[in-house]
Amino acid sequence: MASNSTNPTKKITIAPAKGKLAILTPGMGAVATTLYAGVIAVNKGISHPIGSYTQMGKIRLGKRTENRMSNVKDLVPLAGLKDIVFGGWDIFPENAFEAASHAKVLEKDLLLEVKEELEKIKPMKAVFDKNFIKRIDGVNVKTGKNKMDLADQLRQDIRNFLKDNGCDRAVMVWCASTEVYTPPTEVHATLKSFEEGLRNNDEAISPSQIYTYAALMERVPYANGSPNVSVEMPCLQELSMEMATPISGSDFKTGQTLLKTVIAPGLRNRQLGVAGWYSTNILGNRDGEVLDDPGSFKAKEVSKSGVLDDIFDKNLYPELYSNICHVVRINYYPPRGDNKEGWDNIDIFGWLGYPMQIKVNFLCRDSILAAPLVLDLALFSDLASRAGMRGIQEWMSFYYKAPIVKKGLTVEHDLSVQLLKLENTLRFFSGEELINHLGLTHYGVDEGDQA
Ligand SMILES: NC(=O)c1ccc[n+]([C@@H]2O[C@H](COP(=O)([O-])OP(=O)(O)OC[C@H]3O[C@@H](n4cnc5c(N)ncnc54)[C@H](O)[C@@H]3O)[C@@H](O)[C@H]2O)c1
Repeated sequence: MASNSTNPTKKITIAPAKGKLAILTPGMGAVATTLYAGVIAVNKGISHPIGSYTQMGKIRLGKRTENRMSNVKDLVPLAGLKDIVFGGWDIFPENAFEAASHAKVLEKDLLLEVKEELEKIKPMKAVFDKNFIKRIDGVNVKTGKNKMDLADQLRQDIRNFLKDNGCDRAVMVWCASTEVYTPPTEVHATLKSFEEGLRNNDEAISPSQIYTYAALMERVPYANGSPNVSVEMPCLQELSMEMATPISGSDFKTGQTLLKTVIAPGLRNRQLGVAGWYSTNILGNRDGEVLDDPGSFKAKEVSKSGVLDDIFDKNLYPELYSNICHVVRINYYPPRGDNKEGWDNIDIFGWLGYPMQIKVNFLCRDSILAAPLVLDLALFSDLASRAGMRGIQEWMSFYYKAPIVKKGLTVEHDLSVQLLKLENTLRFFSGEELINHLGLTHYGVDEGDQA
């Protein structure tokens, strides 16, 4: 039998998933309401949680000779779907049924079956600042004497929600609109400067950063579903360590970028060159409307573009990737609503430099792809918290366009490598052998290590 140096020495202690889990979403638009409606529908036996790794995923355990497969949800103690309570904040006062009807993602018949439950989910007043989101405005907004006061109000909302709904714990997943791109300033350097900035109403502090601060202060794990710069800020990472609370981000990896992180590593792994990658798409939902503003688009462009820069490292592969023309366009086109259409044209070259082309045309549904990711992120963030994890949870990179990693580390974008990392983390949590897929058969010895 081969020795196994990758085996964890002991199973780590994970607090049981007892009681109810609150999934709190800043933003109750298309993605959030599609999630709420979906989980309620699954709980009623109307549908299946398709697209959710926590609910449908399987994982191999042990050596291949052992033939052991487990459901992901049976391997680690995740909160059950029946124990979830949804809540959220939005600048519009509509309840989740009205918001879902407005979003037009789900068919009326399905919505009517979950109407009663959705109507009970009413948005709490949002922390909102027009300077950070230009194209929309609403009335369901908090006022306060400064940004610290607004953070305190959010903290009180969290506490009230837990109490009123009999919840044991909460997680927060950002599902609100994309804010204008804002690089870090001095106020974001340390927790001390950030808290001072909250008290002084520093204009560089965005609403998403205030939500993140409030969540972490309440020891509520935070997952960033948009390209907003919040948990990316050093001050908030410092806070997540101090409060022993997990964070992850950013920007759900759903359509075009999901496919990029499947196709691009494949091309690179085969040492095929790339001259250009032109991505464009049309999108007609409210997210598309917000992204029509150049400031918000800039945030999206940054998170979408980084993927190829990292996978096609021009320093490592100068002959293959030193001159890639990468263009990303998002066009607001109302007739399509949530049904985004994306086109990619990839100019590649092979043996002796001969050119070839790949065309991808993805007719997707934005929120249908995003909703299961929110569910998985919420359940895994809660698991991480009960397992005593704190700070950046890189093993959740699988879900993000622009995964955050500790300073100085390179980012892994390859979806299959991200899955390996996720799977091994789950094996680690449950005291199972980590699998490196070496599968080495020793010289003439039949068993090999069978990894
Ligand atoms: N659907 C996808 O495939 C996908 C992929 C990656 C990222 N995202 C991101 O997910 C987020 C949600 O997308 P969506 O399609 O649901 O958008 P949406 O416009 O339908 O919903 C966003 C909601 O957030 C609300 N909002 C804005 N600012 C707020 C604030 N400060 N506090 C509380 N609520 C606020 C808006 O009123 C709106 O109802 C966006 O940031 C989007 O970029 C979506």
